[in-house]
Amino acid sequence: MLKLELDHSSLDRLQADCVLVPVFNDLKLQGHVQALDSHVWNQLSNHLDKKVFDGEAGSMRLLSFSPKSGIKSALLVGLGDPSVFNLESLRRQSASAALSARASNARNLLSLLHHVRVLHASPADALEASALAMGMALYQFNHYKTQNLDKIKSLNEIRLFEPHASDAAKKALKQAQALLESIFLVRDLVNTPSNNKTPPELAKFVQGFCKKNGLSCTVLPKARLAKLGMNSFLAVNAGSSTKNPAQLVRIEYAPKHAKKTLSLVGKGITFDTGGINLKPWEGMLTMKLDMTGAATVLGIVLAAKKLELQGMRIVSYMVLTENIPGPDAIRPQDIVTAYNGKTIEVIHTDAEGRLVLADVLAYSEKNDRPDYLFDFATLTGAVSVALGRHFTGLLGNDDALLAGLEQSGQKTGEWVWKLPLTEEYKDQMKSPIADVMNIGKYKGEGGTILGAAFLSYFVEKTPWAHFDIAATGFFNDPDPTRTYWTRGASGVGVQLVIDWLNRQAMGRAPR
Ligand code: BES
Ligand code: ZN
Ligand code: ZN
Repeated sequence: MLKLELDHSSLDRLQADCVLVPVFNDLKLQGHVQALDSHVWNQLSNHLDKKVFDGEAGSMRLLSFSPKSGIKSALLVGLGDPSVFNLESLRRQSASAALSARASNARNLLSLLHHVRVLHASPADALEASALAMGMALYQFNHYKTQNLDKIKSLNEIRLFEPHASDAAKKALKQAQALLESIFLVRDLVNTPSNNKTPPELAKFVQGFCKKNGLSCTVLPKARLAKLGMNSFLAVNAGSSTKNPAQLVRIEYAPKHAKKTLSLVGKGITFDTGGINLKPWEGMLTMKLDMTGAATVLGIVLAAKKLELQGMRIVSYMVLTENIPGPDAIRPQDIVTAYNGKTIEVIHTDAEGRLVLADVLAYSEKNDRPDYLFDFATLTGAVSVALGRHFTGLLGNDDALLAGLEQSGQKTGEWVWKLPLTEEYKDQMKSPIADVMNIGKYKGEGGTILGAAFLSYFVEKTPWAHFDIAATGFFNDPDPTRTYWTRGASGVGVQLVIDWLNRQAMGRAPR
């Protein structure tokens, strides 16, 4: 695991393969950076004086020092215009700088990047965001490689220069480390191929994992789900139920003085072939990602536990099954009765995420009596048509709640965009012969909204938020502007919900 630490050594004792130095486009060295400069024989200012490095955002310059010196190299990191420099800029530059340092063979780094003025952010916010972005960028998934392992460059030690190591800085670092661990867990689980994360295997892993981490965990096996009447969930499992029976994993973190409950439901399709409505190969290619929601809700409850957040009890559900054709698989126009008694006509077997979530949303609302109910799901391909890859689709039944979540999205860089969810859309999900159907009647229209409209039939009165992370949870082809999101799973959602919980605890959110 990558380690984040504060370094409060005095300047003459500092040691690092590479030190990251922030430089705005005014090329002025300030504060700690100026002090550092005098300890590296003014090589930073001498270089800047040559005017070859302009400090524009994205520019970088590596300066190598004597191999005998404690600091072996410095990377000048251009941050651009100081008057527009915000937390997201800091994240992006930190991520790219860390990757550059690794590419230059540094095995550890010491960063001063957070010692700059950042719009609308405290020094602790800057420290946390910068540390986390560097850690996220340096993630690698090499568990399946057996050859040339010695050629893989690894940088596993990030130190942040913090001479005074204040309580706020320590707290920010601790939070970055906890978030990083959760994000890495989400990424590892999602990036794991589906042959190694069948529902029974994954449930077993999570049980062991929870035990190690002091979380309580219950696994409801298929027979139990059948008794409870989760026929919508089990309909998706029908194609593979003998070999890989469905599992509902319930994880709970219950701090002593919690006053409220947050329930999180995660779509956990360990592989989505589409079922009888089989996907074409390109569409199926990345479908190991279809349990990202389940991994995310595990990551969130783990981070809450690591940070010992006190305000809320958190219950996370991982709704695990494959969606695979077989002689027993559900067929188009089959009708099933969900946990809440509503009947569902299954028009399309590839719209399976909403079927598995429906039962568990209703179950959790009834049995956990949460104050808030969130679900995370790679629900629709349509969300990338609507929003591209930069915003998660957000829908729900409570505008004040959604506004609070938008704020957390803005703060953490895990942007969300609210889509409308009015009665018109809900009406489109009514079936001619059952209560509801699982796809809308106008092909190709408003797919993301209709997915949420379907889910709305399974939440009665609890303030509810649905996160469609189909376009933000996984990047086969990662975005060059956000290098903290590496190839494969991104881990979005973890930072956002932890920020929202922190705001709730401080009573700053609108609801
Ligand atoms: N798991 C997919 C959605 C998806 C697509 C996630 C691409 C990530 C990338 C989901 O189960 C699905 O197949 N949805 C269908 C719904 C349609 C049949 C109404 C879709 O998006 O095409
Ligand atoms: Zn599907
Ligand atoms: Zn799916």
